[in-house]
Amino acid sequence: MSKIKVALIGVGNCASAMVQGIHHYKNNEKEDEAVGLNYLYLDGYHPRDIKFVSAFDIETRKVGKDLSEAIFFPPNNTLKFTDVPQLGVPVLKGPVLDGVGNHMKDIVKISESPEVDVAQKLRESGAEIAINLLPSGSVKASQRYAEEALKAKCAFVNAAPVFIASDAAWSTRFEKAGLPIVGDDLVDQVGATILHKVLLKMLADRGVRISETYQLDVGGGTESLNTLERTRDMKRIVKTRSVERALPYKASVVAGSTDYVDFLENRRDSYFWIKGLYFGRTPMQLDIRLNTVDAPNAGSVMFDVIRGVKIAIDRGIVGPLLGVSAYAFKHPPQAMSLEEAEQMFEFFIQGEKEQ
Ligand SMILES: NC(=O)c1ccc[n+]([C@@H]2O[C@H](COP(=O)([O-])OP(=O)(O)OC[C@H]3O[C@@H](n4cnc5c(N)ncnc54)[C@H](O)[C@@H]3O)[C@@H](O)[C@H]2O)c1
Repeated sequence: MSKIKVALIGVGNCASAMVQGIHHYKNNEKEDEAVGLNYLYLDGYHPRDIKFVSAFDIETRKVGKDLSEAIFFPPNNTLKFTDVPQLGVPVLKGPVLDGVGNHMKDIVKISESPEVDVAQKLRESGAEIAINLLPSGSVKASQRYAEEALKAKCAFVNAAPVFIASDAAWSTRFEKAGLPIVGDDLVDQVGATILHKVLLKMLADRGVRISETYQLDVGGGTESLNTLERTRDMKRIVKTRSVERALPYKASVVAGSTDYVDFLENRRDSYFWIKGLYFGRTPMQLDIRLNTVDAPNAGSVMFDVIRGVKIAIDRGIVGPLLGVSAYAFKHPPQAMSLEEAEQMFEFFIQGEKEQ
């Protein structure tokens, strides 16, 4: 297969897990060896077909370093699960804008290197897909990189919780430019949102009437601090709406409240509480804690998204990819149930239904 040339916008924890993941899975040939991947092959593409060809950040400890080293520099604090060889991809200094919130000034040190022309660097690297992995709250910076992707004729993947793919004005611009776009706000592989939805759906399918439920997250990555300081309210709306869609009736739902506990590093504890009535209006309650590491939780879904976007490019499909977005993001252009989203993604991959 030809390589899928990808640019990383933000070399944080999530980028670290993705770069490591390519090397971790590169020799796997059989599905049962590829523990932790949803799909080893998608329309013939293996994760090793993904090649990171350019990377942008603003952190002084990352800018100028090879991507293979930058992913392990602080303030990144996620797991190292694989050694990564030198990649020959230097991290370039991008525009800062609102990428670094006031509360991050002691944690993130902004590089004094000159800012590069992002569109030109994207073009020079041959990137066909740009992935936005900027921190929560980076609205202007995310929009600026979307502009640069348009200029450089790159498809755009928006993993951050800012409305770009789900904004009709933006998705139309990508469509007119002949480029696919997907987003917004990636769904984790075994994250709180998906687990909460599955639990609620299972209970509702079995006749339980849920009256109240909440989900609380505590984490120690820079993303948890950013969410707490800058996007807590917005995240709560996005996650709550997403979880509410799992129930066929109205209930009191709160999802996405968050807090920051630095010593947890990139670990995340998610607490779920569900209250309802079953046979004879008998009360039931459910109390669960999920413990994960945040960044690897993005890897499998991201590999599916990248390959999904590449398949769209191969087939000349442009504009918002509805199936890929609904399968992999919390705030897609068109929301649908879990089953519909998974089915639409499968149809899309098989080429039975392009949108
Ligand atoms: N499981 C996951 O990791 C997951 C799941 C869903 C969504 N997301 C989203 O992905 C994004 C990245 O998450 P993360 O955990 O890697 O965050 P992170 O804080 O570890 O990384 C963000 C990176 O962006 C860099 N940055 C900040 N401003 C910049 C700018 N203007 N230009 C270039 N780089 C800049 C930072 O220096 C840092 O390296 C977040 O928006 C998060 O909400 C992640």
